[in-house]
Amino acid sequence: MTSYLADLFSLSGKTALVAGGAGAIGSAVSEGLARAGATVIVHDLAQERLDTLSQDFAAKGLTFTGLQADLSSAEAAADLVARAKAVTGRIDILINLQGANRRKPITEVTPEDFDLITTVNLRSVFFLSQAVHPVMKAQGGGKILHFSSLSANISFDTISVYAATKAAVTSLTRSQAHEWADDNIQVNAIEPGFVQTEFTKPLWNDDYRAEWFANFIPQGRLAVPEDLVTTALYLVAPATRYVTGQNVVIDGGVLTGASWVEAPRRPGITR
Ligand SMILES: NC(=O)c1ccc[n+]([C@@H]2O[C@H](COP(=O)([O-])OP(=O)(O)OC[C@H]3O[C@@H](n4cnc5c(N)ncnc54)[C@H](O)[C@@H]3O)[C@@H](O)[C@H]2O)c1
Repeated sequence: MTSYLADLFSLSGKTALVAGGAGAIGSAVSEGLARAGATVIVHDLAQERLDTLSQDFAAKGLTFTGLQADLSSAEAAADLVARAKAVTGRIDILINLQGANRRKPITEVTPEDFDLITTVNLRSVFFLSQAVHPVMKAQGGGKILHFSSLSANISFDTISVYAATKAAVTSLTRSQAHEWADDNIQVNAIEPGFVQTEFTKPLWNDDYRAEWFANFIPQGRLAVPEDLVTTALYLVAPATRYVTGQNVVIDGGVLTGASWVEAPRRPGITR
């Protein structure tokens, strides 16, 4: 049994490039890839995050190659792929975890806010995938996994641009899966719900919000990054060679419906 599963899900011999991989969710996913046997290349915008993750990995007896880049331009994405390919000569797995948000009502979003969010969440995902495609095609196949969001399905106040970019990533997943099926490249996405990270700290960091989440999420809590790792490993494993174009929602049951339990309402807040 153990060997049966190990053979199906081992990433031994695979090279994985994890964009945004020293972030909160990225760190957990990168560790999972390393534990599954992959050679891991972690990209991040911030060199300090790569340094912190390097210490964490070393303490656990794990290793990765760190590559810093701002992925705002298509040229930077192509350059990152070239540097990543130089590590082992191949890239079998690309995971896109880079993401940015500025929470504001629609009426207050500036063109600069709009450009930053769309550049990181959509443009960089599009062009990094485009740059990795010829590498995967030449080696006979590969796996691409995007991190979209629950907000691709239902939006929340103050995240209009973010939600639109994530809906676009969900759509891009299907386009890439279809266009690249002949190249044996499977493309899927994970749509996380609320994950307890710095990224979402403004949402959960007070008593009112904590109670709101406990009522709103059927599982009764936010996710932790580790809750997403097993599905990420499943979607990039050899075992799932026939799974493509799928968006897997991991939201603790939010999309299943709403209960009649009354959520606490903060005085003066109507939305
Ligand atoms: N945290 C959540 O609740 C949640 C929910 C749904 C989806 N997601 C998505 O999961 C992914 C990871 O989220 P996280 O919580 O780990 O966030 P995080 O802020 O910890 O990580 C995001 C990463 O994006 C990278 N990045 C930002 N701007 C960049 C740029 N210009 N160029 C290159 N890289 C850049 C950074 O390196 C950073 O490590 C994001 O795509 C996010 O939208 C998160």
